Order: sequence, then C-alpha cells, then structure tokens
Amino acid sequence: MKVTLSVIKADIGGYVGHSSVHPRLLEVAEDSLRKARDKGIILDYHVTRVGDDLQLIMTHTKGVENGEIHRLAWDTFVEATEEAKRLKLYGAGQDLLSDAFSGNIKGLGPGTAEMEFEERPSEPVIIFMADKTSPGAWNLPLYKIFADPFNTPGLVIDPKMHDGFIFEVLDVYEHKRIKFSMPEELYDILILIGATEHYIIKAVYRKTDKEIAAVSSTQRLSMMAGRYVGKDDPVLIVRAQSGFPAVGEILEPFAYPHLVAGWMRGSHFGPLMPVAFHEANPSRFDGPPRVIAAGFQIANGKLIGPRDLFDDPAFDEAKRNANKIADYIRSMGPFEPHRLGLKEMEYTTLPDVLKKLKDRFEELH
Ligand code: F6R
Ligand code: MG
Ligand code: MG
Repeated sequence: MKVTLSVIKADIGGYVGHSSVHPRLLEVAEDSLRKARDKGIILDYHVTRVGDDLQLIMTHTKGVENGEIHRLAWDTFVEATEEAKRLKLYGAGQDLLSDAFSGNIKGLGPGTAEMEFEERPSEPVIIFMADKTSPGAWNLPLYKIFADPFNTPGLVIDPKMHDGFIFEVLDVYEHKRIKFSMPEELYDILILIGATEHYIIKAVYRKTDKEIAAVSSTQRLSMMAGRYVGKDDPVLIVRAQSGFPAVGEILEPFAYPHLVAGWMRGSHFGPLMPVAFHEANPSRFDGPPRVIAAGFQIANGKLIGPRDLFDDPAFDEAKRNANKIADYIRSMGPFEPHRLGLKEMEYTTLPDVLKKLKDRFEELH
C-alpha cells in the first residue's frame, strides 16, 4: 500500500509569548483533523506541538503536495488562529502570511515535510520537530545518520546500507538543487552543507533502490510580506530499520547538542537541546532551541504512536551539556558567534543605525 506522510506546521499564536501552544489550539486542530479523517480525506492524524509551533501529522493516499491536504492544513490553521485571536494569544496567525489559499501551502508561511512510500511489512518512522531554529539545523544530524560510520555502524556492517545514500541539497538563495552520492562525494558535500544557512539537505535516498529515507521541511526562501519565508522552525521525517538506520542510530547525533541558528529573536546561535514532549517549552532567553522526536509505527496508514523518543535518561547528559553550552555562549551577549552575522539576523537595526551615522564616517586615505 502506498502511503503519504505529511507533516505541516505553523506558529499561529504563542502561549505565553513565544514559549508554547495553548491547549485550546490543539483541541481545535484535533477536531478539524478528526472530521477530515471521518470524511475519508486522511487515513489518520496526530496533533502535537513543540514550543510555539502547532504540528499536524497526517497520513493519506493522495501523494505529496496535494491541494486537498494542503487546504485541510491551511483551514485548520485559520480556524485555530480564530481561537488564538479570541484568547489574544501572542502573535495570533503570525505564520499565515497570505489572506487566501491558492492550492499549495508552500511559500504561504507554514512549513511542510512530506514523503510517499510503499509501506513495508513494518514501517517505523521518526518525526523530529524543532523550535527556535531553522532547517539548516538538520544538516549535521543528517550527515551523521546517513554518512558517518562513527555514528551509524550500519553503514559499515549492514549489507543493505553498505552502498550508502544519496543526499539532495538545496541552495536556498539561488533556488537550485544538487544530488550527492555518499560516501564518494563526502569532501565535496561538506564544503557546502557546513554552511547551514545556505546549503540545506532536503532529502536522503537509499542508493541501491532510490527509496526515500528522510525529508526535511527545507524550502527555497521566498520574499513574502517583506520577509524571507521558509527559514522557520523545521521538521524532519526519517524512516528507520531494515535497511535504513536503526532508531538508535537516528537519535544518536542529538546526544551531542550542536549549535544552531535561531535562538532569541531568530538572531543567536545556541545548542539544540533534545527534550521530552512536556519539556518542549523554550523559556530561558526564549530558548535554548529544542527538538522533540515522535516515533510511530505506520500500520496500513494508521499512525501507531507516538512514542516520545527523547524521554530516556540516556539523553539527560545531552540536556546538561546543552545547558552548559548555553551558559557559556550566553556570556558573549551581542558578540558573534553568539549573535548571528549581520545578514542572517531576523531582527536588525543596522540600516537605521548606518543611516544615522552616515555623515560621521570619514574616508581613510
Ligand atoms: C520567536 C522568537 C522570540 C522572539 C522574541 C521577540 O520565535 O524567537 O525570541 O523573536 O520574543 O518577539 P516580539 O518581537 O514578537 O516581541
Ligand atoms: Mg511565535
Ligand atoms: Mg516557533
């Protein structure tokens, strides 16, 4: 059976500030998707959240980028936004950047990660969802999961994975994409994907049969309503086991919190902290950035789960280390590399300040 797994997310109002999602919004989304399932539009769904981002996880048989599914997500966000406005939640409707839906939700504000596959005899998948960061946050973990034998021994000792994987990388500024064959092109890919704000891994395929293994919510950046859209709090779907990396190989990179962009005002680097669902409420300095991992078994299109995969004391040390890294990097205040480079900050006063100082800059001879 061919199944499509669609994860569509948006921040349509924070509670309190940008720290979390109000339970009422989850109820509204739940009601909307339940109705859609009863009507047969989707096979199954799960509604969740990370930080201030509302996550709609859906299964169906309509393929990726399907207008009816995108409309369902859009209408659900619009309905939840009405509730957010009633409660005067913070930034109600902030990710709905268009007044009208026009067939595809991409570029309208919400983020999407979707994949279609023939359901295997057993189909474990992990959905990562992050807040206070951007899609480049997945580059390092995806590299480790699918190309680093120190992380994924299956690359060395599992005959089904030994040929390696194909990485599809987007140049989000030039609107181009390129595929790399790993591990042969390791040194070429790393010069690009090490630049996590520019070259972002969109998808990973198994080399032997081109089977889809992972897909992220990365999309080309487009200017909408005066700001770049598509840089926001990302999601990632990864298929596990039987010729794909094991669940533990997929989770392992998150045991070493790496620095990602997006903390405080989308303008600071901070450690990506792996947390249990109930801990995904970034409050300290509006962070630090969080990631949750929801595990599902898909059975005839039904979502069996989720299992809260970072709810494991084995990630306690990662959380402690993330806190230590957070303390350290916070001590740098407004200096790079805690603060992002001038061109990458989501907030800036640079044009105003330069304008004000214009006449005071003297030429050097
Ligand atoms: C939101 C975020 C926050 C806000 C900050 C200022 O995802 O990262 O750090 O940028 O709280 O928010 P405003 O400008 O809405 O007061
Ligand atoms: Mg918000
Ligand atoms: Mg957010």
